[in-house]
Amino acid sequence: MSKITIEDAKPLIGGIVHVDRAHLTDAEVIEELKTALELRGVLVFPRLHATDEEQLAFTDAFGGRVNFNKGVPGSNASAEDVYKITLDRALNSEPDYVLGTFFWHVDGVTIDQSLPKATILSARTLSDAGGATEFANLYAAYEHLPEDEKRQYEGLEVIHTVEAAVRPVYGSPPQERLDRYRSMAAGMEQPLVWTHESGRKSLLIGTHADGIVGMPGPHARALITRLIQWAAQPQFVYRHQWQVGDMAVWDNQGLMHRVVPYTDEGRVMHRTSIGGHEKPGHVASDENKSRMFELS
Ligand SMILES: [Fe+2]
Repeated sequence: MSKITIEDAKPLIGGIVHVDRAHLTDAEVIEELKTALELRGVLVFPRLHATDEEQLAFTDAFGGRVNFNKGVPGSNASAEDVYKITLDRALNSEPDYVLGTFFWHVDGVTIDQSLPKATILSARTLSDAGGATEFANLYAAYEHLPEDEKRQYEGLEVIHTVEAAVRPVYGSPPQERLDRYRSMAAGMEQPLVWTHESGRKSLLIGTHADGIVGMPGPHARALITRLIQWAAQPQFVYRHQWQVGDMAVWDNQGLMHRVVPYTDEGRVMHRTSIGGHEKPGHVASDENKSRMFELS
């Protein structure tokens, strides 16, 4: 009998995994999960109740952990490779930054690095309201575009900035905070249509997308907004309503995600990250950034 079964959550996104956590790092289980992740984008393990050690062992077996925590505002240096996503100041010293997760994003897209391959999240304590996580499949969103739009978007370079990522949270962030964020995130030019090493194509968009090279600012932001709305259609989106002990892994390179807003400081999620080696973009030039707000 197979150690693992995976059922589709929705036609274009999501898989529900049934596996005993004792087999989570078995080689054949990992191989099956990697194949499923490529096809389904996000995999959910209901009520797995993995400990931090088990989550880290799975992270390593799946592709190797990377520690983004040292560069993430609010992380606790002693937390090592597990980053706690919570509004509780006792656990995360900069909960304002966590509020940015209310908006569609791809992790790590404004930073000068290979894009994190996958993110793993486990639910430790739930909020009394809100707190579901939504995932949008950016491969499927691209594949379902009309052919003329696909041609139109090929070759466009999008500028992603930390300012855009935090704008819905702060408006204008305090200067000290902005300087600190900028020291962590260079601002990147990334292809709007990313052709992955696998040959598949996806859109690379999110709230952090703030301009398009060679396009007037309002036109660029209108197009970005339209594409985010396109990709957020229900057929491309899986919403996970968490239960305590659930774990999810998603393809951070091919999905954008956000959380349904919550205020409960008791909500605690434990995140680990798998590094990637594909780096589709490069640091945005000051000249292109300075033109992002030109009107023509
Ligand atoms: Fe995220």
